[in-house]
Amino acid sequence: MGYIKSAALEETGYVVLDSYHQEVDPQEWLDIEYVDWKSSGDTRFAPLASAKGEIECNGFWNHKPPRTDKDGVWIDAQVVKAPNLTRRAQEPGANVGRCRVIELQPTPYGECLYNLHQDDNNRLNPDGTGWVVRGFFNLTDDKDSFFVLRENRTDPQGEVRIALPAGAQLIIDTQRLWHATTHLGTEPRYNLITSWTSGPELDAYIEKHHGQSHTASVAVDQAILDAGYAEQARKDAARAAYYAAKGQAEVRAMSEA
Ligand SMILES: [Fe+2]
Repeated sequence: MGYIKSAALEETGYVVLDSYHQEVDPQEWLDIEYVDWKSSGDTRFAPLASAKGEIECNGFWNHKPPRTDKDGVWIDAQVVKAPNLTRRAQEPGANVGRCRVIELQPTPYGECLYNLHQDDNNRLNPDGTGWVVRGFFNLTDDKDSFFVLRENRTDPQGEVRIALPAGAQLIIDTQRLWHATTHLGTEPRYNLITSWTSGPELDAYIEKHHGQSHTASVAVDQAILDAGYAEQARKDAARAAYYAAKGQAEVRAMSEA
């Protein structure tokens, strides 16, 4: 039967929406509660919706009964502190699974490439229902930072680098595309991540906000790119050697985030 997917995401796996006027909103992400949750870099997360409405970030499939990343329960104590973030996550009217703000410490390009991963949004998702994709709304004004997308984790051919100023809005099939963030500067980056179920509501939202399935990639000096490729290869080799020494097969688990 197959899953219900957005035609807008079919070609490249992502769309860039119109920029949001972030400056007019209060910085609600500073008021909500964060929990330590390591995922693809030095991170913490502040959930707005979770499996059971508690302030925790575990995949819904790790709860009892296990279920897919849909029907997240809004966390009253967080929602009351972040009404604008909640409103934005709910605006499409699509089903919301996990919804949380990620705090990411500075991450250079090579480390970002090492962090490239695919998400596991559709574990236990019944065939014939909507495919779960992710919304990414950048909250802080990270003018020099960018999201990296690849079809193949170790092949830079076709890599897309999407700029992350305040108000940047992306929707990505993060189970299809390898992804991670290069975050430059000294302060943490904050980004609202929402799991949405594909369907007519999400399609209408993408159309309303003029989703573009191509964007100009952020320009980076070739020397920095080359150094990043080398750093990814070095870290990958070190990781493989670590597992070889332990006599274990290396498993690159899909991210929980
Ligand atoms: Fe991810």
